[in-house]
Amino acid sequence: MNLEEFVCLPPQSLPDSGTTTWQAPSNIALVKYWGKTGLQLPANPSVSFTLQQCRTQTQVNYRRNEKAKDLPEVSVFFEGKPAPEFIPKIKTFLGHAVVLQPFLRDYSFEIHTSNTFPHSSGIASSASGMAALACCFMDMEKQLFPYSSPEYFNRKASLLARLGSGSAARSIAGGLVLWGQHPDLNQSSDLYGIPFPGAIDSVFTTYQDTVLLVDKGQKTVSSTVGHGLMKNHPFAKSRFTQARKNLENLSSIFESGDLPAFMDLVETEALSLHAMMMTSTPSYVLMKPETLSVIGRIREFRAETGVPVSFTLDAGANVHVLYPEFVADSVYSFISDQLLEYCVNGEHIRDYVGSGASKIQ
Ligand code: PMV
Repeated sequence: MNLEEFVCLPPQSLPDSGTTTWQAPSNIALVKYWGKTGLQLPANPSVSFTLQQCRTQTQVNYRRNEKAKDLPEVSVFFEGKPAPEFIPKIKTFLGHAVVLQPFLRDYSFEIHTSNTFPHSSGIASSASGMAALACCFMDMEKQLFPYSSPEYFNRKASLLARLGSGSAARSIAGGLVLWGQHPDLNQSSDLYGIPFPGAIDSVFTTYQDTVLLVDKGQKTVSSTVGHGLMKNHPFAKSRFTQARKNLENLSSIFESGDLPAFMDLVETEALSLHAMMMTSTPSYVLMKPETLSVIGRIREFRAETGVPVSFTLDAGANVHVLYPEFVADSVYSFISDQLLEYCVNGEHIRDYVGSGASKIQ
């Protein structure tokens, strides 16, 4: 589908007011999106695990204005308290959304949002937050155009979420999600995320991800700046080629269930992401000493025991420890005995591959 197909027609009538509540998950990329063009279009395709425990719930109360406005008015509450600091990002998002959903111009919005994971825990809420908000706006659209298909709903929700935060495109579908065009992957698109279209061994549908919070501070360089630094990056071209190749290889691994190959690939992806940061101009490092200690311990434990445990990293210092469900007990004992000492106050989140966004009745 192309962008024009997602623009709403003028509706027959508009409700005066209403409310809608959705929840959406966070996700962790296995093949990373790093570098973009145009309006949050990815420089390379990426694929992620959806996280079950790390979610945002958002309620949107909408009221119709006397006259349509260029940009809807919004007020935002985070965990019950006014949160004006979120307004600029939401207004930017709305600026894009009104092009695809012109009816939004007729409304004012009161947005109430909260996360299931602790605020300032070092877990980014932009993916789950933008995805939950996009679903609320799609729910309004669904009322006006009830005959659109669930597939259309999910694709457009993903497209809208992407305009708020690129990786949010992967926070609608659930399970393993692909975002970005690849010639070998049917239906893949730069515009929105889709459930991974290839065969998937069952080991990956229940994969575990324990997130170790080794640093809870604000990132020194934002993802937006990091993506921008890929523009003149000396290794950009080879990085985008590497990511495409890694996605091809990962497709075969998803099918075969080859865990050693999976672990090798996701670790290379994580370290390649950070290598891009360390070789940007200006250069920067988001890993902390604890990040490297944890990586070292994981690799030692794997070499000594043969247990299939590996890691990935987001754009930050925290470590996602990845392992299949069938070794969950032994890996969690290892984490408790040897890794929690590197976390801020032992803080961690035990998560696993989960479901997509859904409506709260
Ligand atoms: O969605 P953004 O613009 O915050 O970019 C996030 C990029 C990474 O999290 C580092 C990788 C990814 O694919 O999620």
